[in-house]
Amino acid sequence: MNNYVQHLGLTAWRRKSALLIASALLSLIIFGLQFSRLTDKPTLKEENGSPQMVADALISNVRFVESNQKSNTAKTVTAELSLDEFANMEQPFVDGNVRKRSGNEALETEQQMGIPYVVLNAERPYIPRKRIVHLDLKGAPPLISFFRKFFPLIRNLGATGILLEYEDMFPYTGILKNITAKNAFTPEQVKEILDLAEKSQLELIPLIQTFGHVEFALKHPEWAKLREVPGSPQALCPSRNSSLDFVKEMVTQIMSMHPHIKYLHIGCDEVFQIGECEVCRLELHETLFLKHVQNVAKLIHEKFPKLRLIIWDDMLRHLSQQSMLDVSLGDIVEPMVWVYAEDIYRFVQPPVWDKYGVVFKTAWAASAFKGAFGETLSVPDSRRHLENNLRWLEVMSQQDKNFKRGFTGLVLTGWQRYDHFAVLCELLPAGIPSLGLSLVATTHGYFNSSLKHKFLSGLTCPQHNSGRNQPFIELELDPYLWDKLARCMFPGSPFFRLTFRLHTMETEVDDFIKSTKQSKGWMTDYNVRHNYSLPLRVDELTGDLPRIYHGTTALVRSAVDAMVDVFDNYTISEWIEQKIYPYIIELEKIQNQSIALKSVNQWSARPLPPLKDLQRLGVSINAN
Ligand SMILES: *[C@@H]1O[C@H](CO)[C@@H](O)[C@H](O)[C@H]1NC(C)=O
Ligand SMILES: *[C@@H]1O[C@H](CO)[C@@H](O)[C@H](O)[C@H]1NC(C)=O
Ligand SMILES: *[C@@H]1O[C@H](CO)[C@@H](O)[C@H](O)[C@H]1NC(C)=O
Ligand SMILES: *[C@@H]1O[C@H](CO)[C@@H](O)[C@H](O)[C@H]1NC(C)=O
Ligand SMILES: *[C@@H]1O[C@H](CO)[C@@H](O)[C@H](O)[C@H]1NC(C)=O
Ligand SMILES: *[C@@H]1O[C@H](CO)[C@@H](O)[C@H](O)[C@H]1NC(C)=O
Repeated sequence: MNNYVQHLGLTAWRRKSALLIASALLSLIIFGLQFSRLTDKPTLKEENGSPQMVADALISNVRFVESNQKSNTAKTVTAELSLDEFANMEQPFVDGNVRKRSGNEALETEQQMGIPYVVLNAERPYIPRKRIVHLDLKGAPPLISFFRKFFPLIRNLGATGILLEYEDMFPYTGILKNITAKNAFTPEQVKEILDLAEKSQLELIPLIQTFGHVEFALKHPEWAKLREVPGSPQALCPSRNSSLDFVKEMVTQIMSMHPHIKYLHIGCDEVFQIGECEVCRLELHETLFLKHVQNVAKLIHEKFPKLRLIIWDDMLRHLSQQSMLDVSLGDIVEPMVWVYAEDIYRFVQPPVWDKYGVVFKTAWAASAFKGAFGETLSVPDSRRHLENNLRWLEVMSQQDKNFKRGFTGLVLTGWQRYDHFAVLCELLPAGIPSLGLSLVATTHGYFNSSLKHKFLSGLTCPQHNSGRNQPFIELELDPYLWDKLARCMFPGSPFFRLTFRLHTMETEVDDFIKSTKQSKGWMTDYNVRHNYSLPLRVDELTGDLPRIYHGTTALVRSAVDAMVDVFDNYTISEWIEQKIYPYIIELEKIQNQSIALKSVNQWSARPLPPLKDLQRLGVSINAN
């Protein structure tokens, strides 16, 4: 792991050394410009080619060596992998990186692009029939006006449909009225979404949870009685008739607004509590799970006999083939097999595929373009998501023949929260470059420089060549695409650019806090608790504070400007509170501490009084 990081750093350094020196100089100059811009212009709207963006692009060249190392050490994987295992998983990467230079410029450009190395059939690329983009609304819905621009964009990049996960954003009525979020879509807005999807020829598949992940409903007092475990709103108790009545009501309301759909996704993933209530305890988990899926499917098919039902596959991975065959599971639902990490077979192994092949005539695959590598990320790592998608193409091409009717399609998921109670992860506009990359790749069955035009025009990027063999993406050095896509004008691009400024701010403030509060010896918590420091040193340590503080408050205003075209005021304020506000509070605290420390001008003799609270830890604080 360490070696790999160093190797990357060194390669990056060598490749970029000339550029680095030049751009470091330039960015120093431009940083001055940017700073004066920030100070004399309170609201800063980003426009194409503004000095702000040029500065961002240039500074980013310097930053990437560092951010790349960071992203490689801080990687998190969705499941329980140790760091060692993870390092092993990465081996194919490393091999890809050090492939020999051939002297052939075109090939070199291809290598610089840093496309993850995955073995795909060049003659007959596998292309999923349906390519569906998942929209996770969960309390942070994009505006309808944003969908109006977003739908044609994904259609143009190769999408054939949308998996719409409403959660609490659907305008439920009657007995379900209270589970609807206060900023949910109105029925008119839902109709408009359907119209917009149809106009862009996108098939719409609604998703409603019918077993696990019903937090949004069971958190309410009126629905708490349906919980499997009284203390947790996560899962529905499958043994109560009222649970099925609840599901039936949800389905009825959803269907009344989506009368023409062919598929409905009924969730059923991550049912963390099963077989715990008094009735359920008497049954096998396996039986409980399958019976509930059967019951839900039955009540839906009674009214909508032709509707095809999809469920997530994770609860099926450990079920026996026979138990699934016994209930003819393959006749009532289609599994959507989801893996968002790079190595698909690690999570769904060949025997599981064989089992699925016996039980089901078809299956779906689900990859991710964002929302899979960390609950609090601001922007997705496009390279990792591209690798996940390319590996899915490999797995789909291998497993297609396993199913009588092959795979039906691939869903590119884009989670906006890990569950109802989690904070926001990468927001949709920050994930559009990653989505573009993975969507173009899965629409063609590969990704290489021949798809440059398709990719760049799809994201409204300028395409003038800055050199014939300049790569248009460099995923190893620029995995967030901040550098190469800095000038693109896709809907939401101001917010995408803002995530780079957020990253710069975070680094700067973290460094400042670490230095002031930890490395240097005059403003630590000890100094503050005892009101004991040298004012001159405190002045020195906080000299940069006004400038840094000003930068963070300016970023708040830019964030509002970048988000008003995409989200409602709730989502805007939630994001700012989570991403920027903590830094502002932290800086204000340091400011207050510096005032207190500097207002002292007579000091007591040493030793300072021992801290009373240490007594609790068994430290004697009495004088000897
Ligand atoms: C890109 O990949 C496709 C499919 O493998 C191949 O036909 C094409 O020649 C490649 N183009 C370049 C520029 O490598
Ligand atoms: C919804 O919540 C309100 C306030 O808590 C309550 O008075 C009302 O009875 C609830 N409605 C339903 C249909 O449960
Ligand atoms: C559920 O309903 C069925 C038939 O409507 C009935 O036989 C059964 O006793 C009910 N179960 C419970 C727990 O109420
Ligand atoms: C959102 O906030 C802006 C100002 O911050 C305000 O002008 C606008 O009316 C608000 N929108 C809604 C829907 O409340
Ligand atoms: C800093 O001090 C001001 C004035 O006493 C106070 O209003 C504010 O809450 C303090 N901020 C923090 C973060 O402690
Ligand atoms: C530190 O000393 C100053 C000046 O005497 C006083 O105003 C302030 O309240 C003290 N702060 C703390 C944390 O004791």
